[in-house]
Amino acid sequence: MKSIIFLLSLWRGVYYAEAAAVFAHFMLYNSENFTLFDWEINIAHAKKAHIDAFALNIAYNFPTNNRSLTNAFAAANALDFHLLFSFDYVGNGPWPEGEVIGLLRQYGNNTAYYQHKGKPFVSTFEGSENATDWVTIKKYTDCFFVPGWSALGAKDALAVAPGVPDGLFSWAAWPEGPDPINTYIDSTYMQWLKDTGDLPYMMPVSPWFYTNLPGYGKNWIWNGDNLWYDRWQQVLSLKPEFVEIISWNDYGESHYIGPLHEGSYATFESGNASYNYAAGHPHDAWRDFLPYVIEQYKSGEGKIAKEGVTVWFRQAPGKACVNGGTMGNTETHGQKEFPPTEVLKDDVFYSALLKSDSGVEVVVDIGGTLQDGSWKNKPDGPMGIYHGSVPFDNSTGQVIVTVSRRGKIIAEMRGASVSESCVDDIQNWNAWVGSNFGNNTVKHSTRPTPRPLPPAAAPAPVSAASALLVLGRMPFMVVFVAFVATMVAATATPVGYERMAVTMPAVFEYSPAVHAAGVDGGNLESLSRYGNNYACPQTDAPVMSFVPNDATAAVYDSSWKLG
Ligand SMILES: *[C@@H]1O[C@H](CO)[C@@H](O)[C@H](O)[C@H]1NC(C)=O
Ligand SMILES: *[C@@H]1O[C@H](CO)[C@@H](O)[C@H](O)[C@H]1NC(C)=O
Ligand SMILES: *[C@@H]1O[C@H](CO)[C@@H](O)[C@H](O)[C@H]1NC(C)=O
Ligand SMILES: *[C@@H]1O[C@H](CO)[C@@H](O)[C@H](O)[C@H]1NC(C)=O
Ligand SMILES: *[C@@H]1O[C@H](CO)[C@@H](O)[C@H](O)[C@H]1NC(C)=O
Ligand SMILES: *[C@@H]1O[C@H](CO)[C@@H](O)[C@H](O)[C@H]1NC(C)=O
Ligand SMILES: *[C@@H]1O[C@H](CO)[C@@H](O)[C@H](O)[C@H]1NC(C)=O
Repeated sequence: MKSIIFLLSLWRGVYYAEAAAVFAHFMLYNSENFTLFDWEINIAHAKKAHIDAFALNIAYNFPTNNRSLTNAFAAANALDFHLLFSFDYVGNGPWPEGEVIGLLRQYGNNTAYYQHKGKPFVSTFEGSENATDWVTIKKYTDCFFVPGWSALGAKDALAVAPGVPDGLFSWAAWPEGPDPINTYIDSTYMQWLKDTGDLPYMMPVSPWFYTNLPGYGKNWIWNGDNLWYDRWQQVLSLKPEFVEIISWNDYGESHYIGPLHEGSYATFESGNASYNYAAGHPHDAWRDFLPYVIEQYKSGEGKIAKEGVTVWFRQAPGKACVNGGTMGNTETHGQKEFPPTEVLKDDVFYSALLKSDSGVEVVVDIGGTLQDGSWKNKPDGPMGIYHGSVPFDNSTGQVIVTVSRRGKIIAEMRGASVSESCVDDIQNWNAWVGSNFGNNTVKHSTRPTPRPLPPAAAPAPVSAASALLVLGRMPFMVVFVAFVATMVAATATPVGYERMAVTMPAVFEYSPAVHAAGVDGGNLESLSRYGNNYACPQTDAPVMSFVPNDATAAVYDSSWKLG
């Protein structure tokens, strides 16, 4: 007992104190059938993943809002977790300012409400048409306001009600077309925010996107193949003040990282989906690397409790079944459309958290056909997240990914199957995600060897690279103690800084039609309707430079080419 208290006090001492925080976007409406226990389970999972708070997406005047909030705050208080509001101005129309003030007065000083600089942190989904309301709302609530006015882009979002935003959230979490995601839009935001008075940026991170809800006029995919790995590396490079994961429980857009819940599938009915493409597709394993990568983001170094592998893939080759009208990209966002098969690869994707890849082999078994895997991305230094994929190559059957070192198995993920036939006879573009972690606790963290960075003048759309992890589904106390133990074992690593420049591409496709979209009357599945309007950065943004931390170097591995 004494030693636990000692560890706890030590933990408090070493924990990184900076304002960096990671939130997960939580669709409040999807919790209408949640018991208090459901809230506690979800919160326990989020805490285990080192997520700081749920950003509760709350649409105006839903009859279930009050009950959900009562339970959410009760559970958050019981488990010492935090919540904040993300007012959705599209889902059920704009919020009257008095209602916003009322909710913030009711909950803003709740001990479970997330505070920044002593103020309740508040965000939005769109709502820039009502931006000036926030002059009054802030006067009465003294909130810290980081709206997501992505339909405007960074420059106009700052101009629409000068002095009102205390920071900005962008919704640009997905790449356009077959290319991997870049950081142009993030850089634009960061530059405008910096120029406006060093305001904080909240960066969006998402693992996937597939929606097929004809009732809401939505049916497309964006490229999620390597996205979960790549995007976290970009977070480590850019070091934004805040990160918001999109999402915890939006099943209709397939980007959930929270647990599946049978009482949360209303969207498939209300959106007239021909089938439920989330059921049977757990994404929980996408949380496994979060303790590692979030600590890297917050303190510059992550700790590895156990080595392991996280694996994701779609369960049928793209051409196997009827497509159901899904496109890669969407004209509704002013994008050029592609067949989904040109955007998503028929691959098994894997990320492994390793103390070193020395003597390590990856073998991907699909129905008895074995392939040797390789790493497309490696961390800087031996310890960290290694990432790669192998093609299906027409194999079908159960997917087993084995990571071993000199013949000894580190982790073996025995997953779902790839098949030429599809449930409901329609191509499901959602991913299946699984993981396995080894049983040998890693005792130390290593200091990364600095890797030469490319010349500062080179255009550096940060792309590519990394991450998965540990601490999966163990009881919380076990995880916590393991975490404390690794914290204690680790010695602080000085961070090496290098300067580099991110330049804006010369030409951006800019679609005024998309920008003019405005609020179009809501539905429950509103998020992505505005989602990509973010994708219109300001072309006159100046070149920005930023200081990457040592993790940045991981981006520049051998497979990464300068633009
Ligand atoms: C929710 O609660 C607030 C105050 O607690 C009340 O003013 C409001 O009418 C309630 N809304 C609904 C839809 O029940
Ligand atoms: C919000 O803005 C819209 C568009 O300008 C306007 O029609 C509406 O009245 C505003 N809503 C509120 C609640 O102020
Ligand atoms: C929170 O704010 C409300 C409304 O201003 C007030 O009635 C209540 O006492 C406050 N609670 C705490 C704990 O400060
Ligand atoms: C879903 O389909 C039903 C019956 O075809 C139709 O009445 C309803 O309007 C549709 N819902 C949406 C949101 O389009
Ligand atoms: C809650 O459960 C009811 C009854 O099964 C269902 O009709 C409704 O769609 C569920 N709500 C959500 C958000 O899934
Ligand atoms: C997979 O099957 C297709 C169609 O039968 C064939 O054209 C292709 O060469 C096969 N690919 C591999 C890697 O075997
Ligand atoms: C770790 O131990 C558990 C429980 O004994 C076992 O199920 C699992 O397969 C082991 N993992 C590896 C990689 O050996």
